[in-house]
Amino acid sequence: MKRDLVILGAQWGDEGKGKVVDLLSADFDVAVRYQGGSNAGHTVVVGGERFVLHLLPTGILHEHTIGVVAQGMVVDLELLVGELEELEGRGLRIYDRLFISDRAHLVMPYHKVLDSLFERRGKIGTTLRGIGPSYMFKYGRKGIRVCDLEDPDRTYRLIKENLEFVQDLCEKVYCENHSLNLEEMFEKIMEYYKRIRGRVTDTTQWLLKFEGSVLFEGAQGTMLDIDMGTYPFVTSSNASALGLSNGTGLPPKYFSTANFWAVSKAYATRVGEGPFPTELTDEKGEQLRERGGEYGATTGRPRRCGWLDLVVLKHAVEVNGLDGLILTKLDVLDGFEEIKVCVAYELDGQVFDHFPAGLSKLSKVAPIYKSFKGWLRNTRGARSFSELPKEALQYLQFIQDYLGVSLVMLSTGPEREEYFWLQEPAWREGEKTRKVF
Ligand code: IMP
Repeated sequence: MKRDLVILGAQWGDEGKGKVVDLLSADFDVAVRYQGGSNAGHTVVVGGERFVLHLLPTGILHEHTIGVVAQGMVVDLELLVGELEELEGRGLRIYDRLFISDRAHLVMPYHKVLDSLFERRGKIGTTLRGIGPSYMFKYGRKGIRVCDLEDPDRTYRLIKENLEFVQDLCEKVYCENHSLNLEEMFEKIMEYYKRIRGRVTDTTQWLLKFEGSVLFEGAQGTMLDIDMGTYPFVTSSNASALGLSNGTGLPPKYFSTANFWAVSKAYATRVGEGPFPTELTDEKGEQLRERGGEYGATTGRPRRCGWLDLVVLKHAVEVNGLDGLILTKLDVLDGFEEIKVCVAYELDGQVFDHFPAGLSKLSKVAPIYKSFKGWLRNTRGARSFSELPKEALQYLQFIQDYLGVSLVMLSTGPEREEYFWLQEPAWREGEKTRKVF
């Protein structure tokens, strides 16, 4: 039977998907990225060496894995070529293991200009990588796709039209000039295209024919999903499981036998603006940030930190139809005497445990916490559940019971081997399937 796995973010991104995907993709033939773009920053540490991937699927770090940049992504070709060359420069053979969708849209320099301008009026706190404007152009039917680059005249015309539109917008709405040059932009994009042209294909057709195992790597997180997240403080793609079909061009039925797992930190973080009911703005939040090294992999911005929010995770379980949850960074809680988790929200005397859509409501909800005694012992690098203090096990057990979804794995440090299974999947032959809880 075909064996596929979907890995998603259960919170606001930065859950540690990079490390988890790197680890799990050892058991898969193909790794697919299908939404978002260089706003993602997936960090992997192998043998002390740190890799941060923005556009390439993380799974490609394994020598046997084929990487797919699927049609739902918005691709900054300059960055993609840069990433490819950087990895090849570090001794990894990437080029001939990569496929890039001919239907993927491009992020152009004018998208980045617009990202900055939009941020000045109504701040979202974007990564300024041109992601939102690129999707705007896509849905406004003004986008340029990778397949367009095959026809230089068409590409030139599209860039020209878009530049004129952006110029008008900048001057007439924002009273700004930009220094973008049509000829230069055209030449550069054709140059980058030359570097990847040999790897461009119809990735939907390729995946439909492929019979091996595939891992689908979600970027960002469920709460940043354009439809299911904290709109408008979200990214511009479907970062939840909702994005799988349109992001890959594969029919929904394709995923009916896949496993759906999501990654969550043992606490919560978010970057950028927007609702975050369990945010800690006191010294405890600072402690989480410092212990967790909570600074953005893409922008270096300090992340906002807070207690784990099970209302958020429940939303992720339901929206994504999760089969399992992977928890990361439990060790960041090692130094806390008391640890809290949010189990419901309260508003105007009403208690509820579903994530509301409206910002006005969200800005007023008060989290209701359950308190746990901290374990005050080192759990960093633990390799089996017997190494965990009983208080930590109680914390994990509560999360699993509340969500009604198995905790399948615990990641206990940034290195590839710092993890252990709480519920070993059936596909890992040779190792006994064992369930801890
Ligand atoms: P954009 O995706 O650059 O448009 O940013 C929209 C929102 O999503 C901002 O709050 C960003 O900080 C956030 N965001 C985008 N990508 C990531 C990510 O990979 N991790 C965490 N937050 C992200």
